[in-house]
Amino acid sequence: MTAAFFPAQDEVRQWLQDAAHIAMLTGAGVSAESGVPTFRDAQTGLWANFRAEDLATEAAFRRDPQRVWDWYAERRANMVHVQPNAGHHAVAAFQQRHPGRLTLATQNVDGLHQKAGSPEVLALHGNIFDDQWLDPCALARRPQDGCGVAQAEPGHPPRCAQCGNLLRPAVVWFGEMLPMDALAAAEQAAERCDVMLVVGTAGAVYPAAGLAHQARAAGARVVIVNPHPSELDDIAHRVLAGTSAQVLPQLLDF
Ligand code: APR
Repeated sequence: MTAAFFPAQDEVRQWLQDAAHIAMLTGAGVSAESGVPTFRDAQTGLWANFRAEDLATEAAFRRDPQRVWDWYAERRANMVHVQPNAGHHAVAAFQQRHPGRLTLATQNVDGLHQKAGSPEVLALHGNIFDDQWLDPCALARRPQDGCGVAQAEPGHPPRCAQCGNLLRPAVVWFGEMLPMDALAAAEQAAERCDVMLVVGTAGAVYPAAGLAHQARAAGARVVIVNPHPSELDDIAHRVLAGTSAQVLPQLLDF
């Protein structure tokens, strides 16, 4: 039945079996079947009138920290009880069965790959449940002054009581650099992989989408799993038009 729906799937599975190293890039689509609202989906109700630049940029946070904090507090609350789906579990189980064979890079900030038990996740866009200082805390190097310790009033962005520096969500906002170590490791995996699996991403946001181009240029087979067309379809050797929770357990079951 599977083969009838996805004629290319058995072939891709064989490529994966033959591959010494697999790279994988995931996006919001892998969490769709867990019910995680995408950035756009989350912009309902009160938030519908804001543009992305009002909610997910450093300038927006500096302008109105409370508003951005509230937006992230709501997204965190919506995500905290969400559970990984069969796609996340298939990837995690594969990584556990074959240590070091699959390098997983994700654009998702929901932590679901980690929750599923993936031993190593390159979180290219950060993690929504973590915080980081907005500015390098100048006094933080002098812990004897008590600087660099966050103090929070409920519902407000936490501040350093000494210097006033704010904590912000540790996600990559529009216009920001990706974490250098994670990006470098993902690029290295794209360079050396035999197969690059691109799952649940529209392939429109760079530099993450560039990993697929890089893998293709380096000679890897590029495979897309996405029920809808993506911007990377043109460079893919195969497009499997199914959902990640359906397709990944069948591709990664060895
Ligand atoms: N299985 C696989 N793919 C799916 C599924 C599913 N069940 N449901 C939807 N998709 C696909 C859609 O067809 C779409 O191509 O997931 C993709 C989601 O695209 P986007 O919402 O644009 O998410 P993504 O590509 O991850 O966005 C990248 O952009 O919004 C910023 O920083 C944010 O990390 C995000 C980045």
